[in-house]
Amino acid sequence: MRIVHSVAEFRALRPTLGHLAFVPTMGNVHAGHISLVQAAREHTDQIAASIFVNRLQFGPSEDFERYPRTLAEDAAQLAEAGVGVLFAPDENEMYPSPQSYHIEPATEQVSVLEGEFRAGHFRGVATVVMKLFQIVQPDIALFGKKDYQQLMVLRNMVSQFAMPIEVVGCETVRAQDGLALSSRNGYLSTDERRRAPQLNAELRRIRDAVRDGHRDFGGLQESAAERLDSAGWRTEYVRICRRADLQPSDAAAKEARVVLAAARLGTTRLIDNLEI
Ligand code: PAF
Repeated sequence: MRIVHSVAEFRALRPTLGHLAFVPTMGNVHAGHISLVQAAREHTDQIAASIFVNRLQFGPSEDFERYPRTLAEDAAQLAEAGVGVLFAPDENEMYPSPQSYHIEPATEQVSVLEGEFRAGHFRGVATVVMKLFQIVQPDIALFGKKDYQQLMVLRNMVSQFAMPIEVVGCETVRAQDGLALSSRNGYLSTDERRRAPQLNAELRRIRDAVRDGHRDFGGLQESAAERLDSAGWRTEYVRICRRADLQPSDAAAKEARVVLAAARLGTTRLIDNLEI
């Protein structure tokens, strides 16, 4: 695997790469990232990945400084999985002057869920992904469904800017006890890690109830949040939404749904979702 740190070097390489799939990451690679590489291999044998911890998508009180940076281990895992080129720029390379130009996602997409609790987060995500797409010029880009709203925002960006990129959403990879894999799981203490699968358990409970015909969505959401809070979490949201636009689902409507949640366990903020 070739590791490329500069935009110029990637540009020079790009014409040799042919039909290219791209897995953008912030590093600290785990089985979730590797599953994206494996999914990419179903589309093409030319795979690029990137590692860049993007300051723009972290709020002032978030974990940008402590976000794990593990380039050597990440590179080894990505190479083993079949990545041919790893783009790993530093901050000066990505943002040589203060970033003054941004991609502003559609308000209705970012005024809900994560957007309510992480002001500016999706602006930072869309800006960096637009820039990565300009540099890498992939034919296919793969993202995990764990960041469900991110996937929706990026699909919309690609469509609105008529970018010739197929965006593929891949299933969330979970530990055996149901916890969705995330680099942030590494912040959990042993006791918190033991309790963390409750978030997924509450989502499964809601998914099963809705599938069984329960239509009191407000009640289901509230009781899940109450159970989490009484077990020591600080719940930010538990919501049953329309898959199409992540607006609250109408219990009377026939529509594809997803239930999403975010909650803090100690100092760690975890998110998860399940399609219903
Ligand atoms: O999902 C992530 O890891 C990041 O949000 C992304 C898409 C790499 C942008 O920094």
